[in-house]
Amino acid sequence: MNGTHHTEAEGGQMKRIETMLKVVTLAAMLVGMMVCAAGAADPKPVLNSSDCVKCHSKAPEAIAANGGAHKTEVSCQDCHAGHPPTVRKIIPLCSQCHTGKPHYNLTGCLRCHTNPHTPKIITFANNITDECVTCHTQQIAKFKQVKSKHSALACSFCHSKHGKIPLCTQCHKPHSSEMAVTDCKRCHQAHLPTVVTYAADTANNMCGACHKKAFELHSKTDTKHKGVKCVTCHKDKHKTIPVCQGCHGVPHPARMMARFSKCSECHNIAHDLNRWEAAPAAQPGAAGKQPAKAVKKK
Ligand code: HEC
Ligand code: HEC
Ligand code: HEC
Ligand code: HEC
Ligand code: HEC
Ligand code: HEC
Ligand code: HEC
Ligand code: HEC
Ligand code: HEC
Ligand code: HEC
Ligand code: HEC
Ligand code: HEC
Repeated sequence: MNGTHHTEAEGGQMKRIETMLKVVTLAAMLVGMMVCAAGAADPKPVLNSSDCVKCHSKAPEAIAANGGAHKTEVSCQDCHAGHPPTVRKIIPLCSQCHTGKPHYNLTGCLRCHTNPHTPKIITFANNITDECVTCHTQQIAKFKQVKSKHSALACSFCHSKHGKIPLCTQCHKPHSSEMAVTDCKRCHQAHLPTVVTYAADTANNMCGACHKKAFELHSKTDTKHKGVKCVTCHKDKHKTIPVCQGCHGVPHPARMMARFSKCSECHNIAHDLNRWEAAPAAQPGAAGKQPAKAVKKK
């Protein structure tokens, strides 16, 4: 400390006296400046926006650096009309100038626009949703369209700064080590995470991350289905099951097919077909019943 010993009460009193003196001096200064500026002929005091910086440093500095439209479109005095002690209430309401949009009906503008002298510097907590929806409506519509666990999260839980897009891998592990963060978008949309769709160029190993058995069978098969991608058969949307005839039409005589309800009765599973050396018709013994054993080509 500096050696002088004040009690807290004394200190407080000193402070108050100091402030009073300052205010008196400043009030005198103000009047002096105003009179000077006005000239002797006109006794009406004039305080200009250019005078503020003589006593206030923070606001002018903030506005100069990040004032945005509050620097270019309005002056100090458009917001602060008059000055103490003459005018007591000189803090404007935002609604003096901002009306007519849902966003302007919010309460507590300064929660996010923390300093009116730097209006574009915006900060908010991680539990904000309704305020975002005053401007962005599509995302909440998607959250309601298909409810998922993301629907229950606040917008700012993921978008911690305005405009910032989070990576999925900030919160989730990829399904396999072969999957990069840019792959998530192939199958998921952030605001509809459980609706899994994908494009025709999606690689088989993306599916293989979860479907090991199908992937391995299909990778090892020596049939022509090896050259057909997972997503060519399971097209566009997850859990789509193709119909063989969709690609093959009617490959066998109707009389033969009438006896077998499913292609798989002879061809086994699509991922590892049993191909036949010859049609059952060429093997008279087997023609009537379901083949006992699938004959596979090497
Ligand atoms: C001669 C010095 C001086 C000048 C010039 C001056 N001010 Fe002040 N200002 C003060 C003082 C001292 C206070 C604190 C007064 C009080 O609290 O009673 C103050 C307070 C304020 C406040 C806060 C009021 C509140 O209710 O909290 C605002 C806003 C303000 N000034 C804006 C301005 C603007 C805008 C200008 C220029 C147009 C300006 N001042 C010019 C000295 C000055
Ligand atoms: C768009 C309106 C607007 C403009 C323009 C504006 N202010 Fe303010 N100012 C405010 C509001 C609102 C507050 C109250 C902030 C709060 O409550 O935290 C404030 C607070 C202040 C204060 C008191 C608190 C502090 O930051 O010290 C001063 C001094 C001040 N302004 C000076 C100025 C000066 C000088 C200018 C011009 C360079 C200016 N203001 C321009 C809206 C404005
Ligand atoms: C004296 C009028 C006035 C007051 C009071 C005022 N503003 Fe503004 N503000 C403007 C004008 C004019 C613009 C530029 C046109 C527009 O965007 O509407 C603006 C623009 C803005 C912008 C966009 C800034 C940019 O650079 O694009 C924000 C954010 C903003 N104001 C927030 C506020 C908040 C928050 C308050 C209350 C603390 C407030 N304003 C009070 C006049 C005002
Ligand atoms: C939850 C945080 C939050 C609150 C509360 C908030 N704003 Fe904003 N405001 C924003 C964001 C985010 C933007 C978008 C900024 C951008 O476009 O870069 C914005 C933009 C603005 C803009 C400029 C764009 C426009 O649409 O005109 C103005 C003006 C504005 N706000 C005024 C206000 C006023 C007035 C209030 C109080 C009635 C308020 N804001 C309350 C977050 C908020
Ligand atoms: C006052 C209106 C307003 C408010 C409130 C607002 N935004 Fe924005 N937001 C905008 C504008 C304008 C853009 C830029 C538009 C663009 O790039 O398409 C934007 C951009 C974004 C972007 C980046 C878009 C992109 O394509 O890169 C995200 C993410 C975003 N806002 C999320 C939010 C979140 C989350 C909130 C609530 C915390 C919010 N916004 C509040 C107006 C607002
Ligand atoms: C689980 C995290 C998460 C939540 C919660 C979330 N977002 Fe997003 N948001 C993202 C991701 C990730 C992207 C990038 C999407 C992309 O690139 O395809 C995004 C993109 C955006 C965009 C850019 C345009 C678009 O739709 O792709 C806006 C705007 C946006 N979000 C606003 C919001 C709003 C508003 C809310 C609340 C209703 C919200 N977000 C909730 C993660 C989230
Ligand atoms: C900021 C963290 C965060 C980000 C970023 C994020 N998520 Fe989530 N996600 C969560 C949380 C929390 C849950 C719910 C987890 C739980 O309850 O088990 C979740 C759940 C999910 C679910 C399951 C949904 C359900 O209803 O079962 C999917 C799918 C998902 N996220 C995909 C994604 C994708 C894809 C991205 C990127 C576009 C992403 N997430 C970005 C936090 C996040
Ligand atoms: C090839 C498509 C595909 C890709 C690429 C993909 N996912 Fe998924 N993801 C799915 C499917 C399908 C499910 C749903 C499984 C189910 O129905 O249970 C899922 C489920 C999830 C879940 C819910 C929990 C779980 O593990 O079942 C999260 C979280 C998730 N994905 C995150 C991600 C992230 C992060 C990425 C990027 C690294 C990603 N996904 C890439 C298809 C994909
Ligand atoms: C995140 C893990 C995950 C990924 C990645 C994934 N799936 Fe799935 N898939 C599942 C789960 C879980 C099921 C449901 C299994 C069940 O119901 O027994 C499923 C079921 C299926 C089904 C069967 C539907 C039915 O009715 O039996 C098919 C077909 C399928 N997935 C194809 C794919 C394809 C193609 C891809 C790649 C584009 C893929 N999956 C990517 C997890 C995943
Ligand atoms: C998305 C289209 C598609 C679907 C669905 C499909 N296939 Fe194929 N299949 C093909 C293509 C492409 C070939 C290779 C044709 C060629 O190269 O001549 C093929 C070849 C075959 C062959 C000959 C195999 C060989 O190695 O000689 C058989 C048998 C076959 N398919 C049966 C089936 C059966 C049974 C199903 C249903 C379980 C089915 N296919 C579903 C596209 C499809
Ligand atoms: C030629 C078309 C075709 C290709 C290529 C294909 N599938 Fe299938 N898949 C089917 C058909 C048809 C079924 C239904 C069962 C059946 O009749 O064989 C099926 C069934 C499934 C099932 C559910 C039954 C099971 O075996 O678990 C999953 C999962 C699956 N496929 C994943 C995949 C994956 C992963 C790939 C790529 C590695 C793939 N499929 C490649 C046609 C195909
Ligand atoms: C009774 C057993 C049986 C049934 C059921 C069956 N197939 Fe076949 N399929 C065969 C045999 C045997 C061959 C070999 C014929 C040949 O090489 O001429 C064959 C060949 C094929 C071929 C290859 C043709 C070529 O030119 O290489 C396709 C494609 C095919 N079948 C599709 C199907 C489809 C789709 C179904 C269901 C609608 C089906 N099969 C049902 C026994 C069957």
